[in-house]
Amino acid sequence: MNHLIAPSVLSADFANLQRDVEMINNSEADWFHVDIMDGVFVPNISFGFPVIKAIKKYATKPLDVHLMIANPDQYLQQFKEAGADILTVHLEGCTHLHRTVQAIKALGMKAGVAINPHTSVNLLNDIISDLDMVLVMSVNPGFGGQKFIENTYNKIQNLRDIIRTTKSKALIEVDGGVDLNNYKKLIDSSANVLVAGNTVFSSASPAATISTLKNINQ
Ligand code: DX5
Ligand code: ZN
Repeated sequence: MNHLIAPSVLSADFANLQRDVEMINNSEADWFHVDIMDGVFVPNISFGFPVIKAIKKYATKPLDVHLMIANPDQYLQQFKEAGADILTVHLEGCTHLHRTVQAIKALGMKAGVAINPHTSVNLLNDIISDLDMVLVMSVNPGFGGQKFIENTYNKIQNLRDIIRTTKSKALIEVDGGVDLNNYKKLIDSSANVLVAGNTVFSSASPAATISTLKNINQ
């Protein structure tokens, strides 16, 4: 499949959110990546339902919502109502991950599971066939603009092998420190979705940077 690009709204200008949402609408991006942080699971707080709803009001592409929150189960329906199309929870934040994944799907959303840099892809063996996506964190979650962790390449290759063996349909998303130096190698290593925050929004032309990330053969 052709890879997908999901710009991370965390790096947008919140005082000009509608402008940045429309930039993504008009770009070659595929999804909106929306980071939710609770100050407990990660040492940062981002934003909540009112901001997701504001993004959804103008977005013409799917909302890929990444929950960096402890015990997300009680909020799944509210994320659906706020506009999430794909909802990703952290393996490390869910005691009953199988139940959480089924609940996300029962609400009509695609279900993703995220793993931190220290978490082995092998822990996904018994859940992979239920997943629409695995989000491989390539930085420790909590902040945009961090340095990419090189071991990520090994992880996504191992994950690709698990997905092939189990005939899972899960996409592999890579999140954190994706830039113009590593995006091609990530696609070559079998990543299907690239999240990019700082690389897109700190560039002179965010739409042109999205185009570069999307069109790998240029
Ligand atoms: C980090 C978030 C990322 C972040 C990526 O905890 O999950 O989605 O926005 O930002 P960059 O691309 O700047 O590393
Ligand atoms: Zn994210």
